[in-house]
Amino acid sequence: MGCNDDIKRLIEAEDLTLPPPEREPQRQYYFIKKCREIVKKKSEELGHPLYACSVCMGCQMNARDSEKLVGILELAGFVLSEEEDADFVIYNTCTVRDNANQRVYGRLGFLNSMKKKNPHMKIALCGCMMQEASVIEKIKKSYRFVDLIFGTHNIFKFPELLCTMFESGRMVIDIWKDTEQIVEDLPAERKYPFKSGINIMFGCNNFCSYCIVPYVRGRERSRSPKDIIREIERLVKDGVVEIMLLGQNVNSYGKNLEEPVSFAGLLREAEKIEGLERIRFMTSHPKDLSDELIEVMKESKKICRHLHLPLQSGSTRILKAMNRRYTKEQYIDLALKIRREIPDIAITTDIIVGFPGETAEDVDETIDVIRQVKYENAFTFIYSKRTGTPAAAMENQVAEKTVKEGFDRVLKAVQDTAKERVALLQGKVLPVLAEERNEHDSSLITGRLSNNTLVHFPGDTSLIGKIVEVRLEECHGFYYLGRNIKDDV
Ligand code: SAH
Ligand code: SF4
Ligand code: F3S
Repeated sequence: MGCNDDIKRLIEAEDLTLPPPEREPQRQYYFIKKCREIVKKKSEELGHPLYACSVCMGCQMNARDSEKLVGILELAGFVLSEEEDADFVIYNTCTVRDNANQRVYGRLGFLNSMKKKNPHMKIALCGCMMQEASVIEKIKKSYRFVDLIFGTHNIFKFPELLCTMFESGRMVIDIWKDTEQIVEDLPAERKYPFKSGINIMFGCNNFCSYCIVPYVRGRERSRSPKDIIREIERLVKDGVVEIMLLGQNVNSYGKNLEEPVSFAGLLREAEKIEGLERIRFMTSHPKDLSDELIEVMKESKKICRHLHLPLQSGSTRILKAMNRRYTKEQYIDLALKIRREIPDIAITTDIIVGFPGETAEDVDETIDVIRQVKYENAFTFIYSKRTGTPAAAMENQVAEKTVKEGFDRVLKAVQDTAKERVALLQGKVLPVLAEERNEHDSSLITGRLSNNTLVHFPGDTSLIGKIVEVRLEECHGFYYLGRNIKDDV
């Protein structure tokens, strides 16, 4: 993709007869070039191109990291493949809940059987789960066939690590505890040509008591507004119309920069970029959401009418134990203020059921918030104990049966209120960004409203990446079936 053209030239210019440069990212450009030679040689030996398969198992931030991994693999001469029997397979892991970890171990078993058939196959693991010492121990002991392991802080070193892996023939492990470093200008290959995530910050300082993210992603650090705007401008030149600004808590963006900037200030700058149509962001921590942000959203033509505002629990007592730093009332006041100021906004949320000490009455409080705020959508999670977090050491862990009951009640409340909210748009004609062919019915195109609600409508793939005016005809709970108004007769 065009964005990588400058980088391609810089890679070309590296001289492999010299020792690798010290500076980043030049050093990695050198190793991309070197890797390309290794890949070429291997594929000549094998008599076919070297296929690489990259699997992302985590959140949007992991997905963006995976786009960087894929960008590097392509420039290093691999041919991308969806098949996990490729010559090189990399899993970008997540560890936010235990089921994510179990999935990795399960799939590793399968990869091992592949590798037995195809001994030159290489297997790499990276991402959040690799930042846990216990995981590394387990892999070293029971999954000896893994070839390369690295973490979240040194992902920029991927080209260098690839070369080391090919050259050493041993298991290569490189994990950093934390970093201050932000390496700009790495190649990336986007999953969608017309939209892109952009990291505006890394890490998290909030230490919600259940959450492992601050331990595996390190301390909060913001990219400079200049670098972010430059990246967006390049993406727009390359065909991107929608961006999503990514951070664990975008509302605290810029506070620790040498010249502090607010998140709202960054949005104002992004708004000015010509050719950019839609701006999204995630995630907003309720404790840091400013009036200035509401103001900017209200005035903006480009910022999407969607706010993801994780609640986690509606019980002030549980919120305190979670270290969320807001009360039930503060949250409701904030959400209702936003609904008042920006009436066409959709609010979505994350909820955890089964946090230590949670009772049926606490769950009632959560349901009360759901009924008052009426989310357009909500992700409900069963609490998962994460070793090393304060909540894991709490004594009053909730019995599975109680959790299940609470979970079902919360889910029901979410479905009921969402149906009611989403149905409010019935019959309206609204712009939809067409994103892909519908998975189940190939005569339909799937896209999103500004407020993030999914819309399926008859159309062909020539519409993908375009903004189409669609009449919202049938509301099906969380999504709509609609019709392109150009197809009206
Ligand atoms: N930074 C974001 C959330 C990132 S993790 C925020 O603060 O909103 C995404 C979601 O996973 C969280 O909102 C939370 O609902 C859920 N989650 C995090 N840790 C969890 C755990 N230990 N068990 C269950 N769900 C968890
Ligand atoms: Fe986890 Fe809380 Fe940070 Fe979100 S804000 S990543 S839930 S610690
Ligand atoms: Fe994201 Fe999972 Fe890591 S939610 S930050 S990939 S632990």
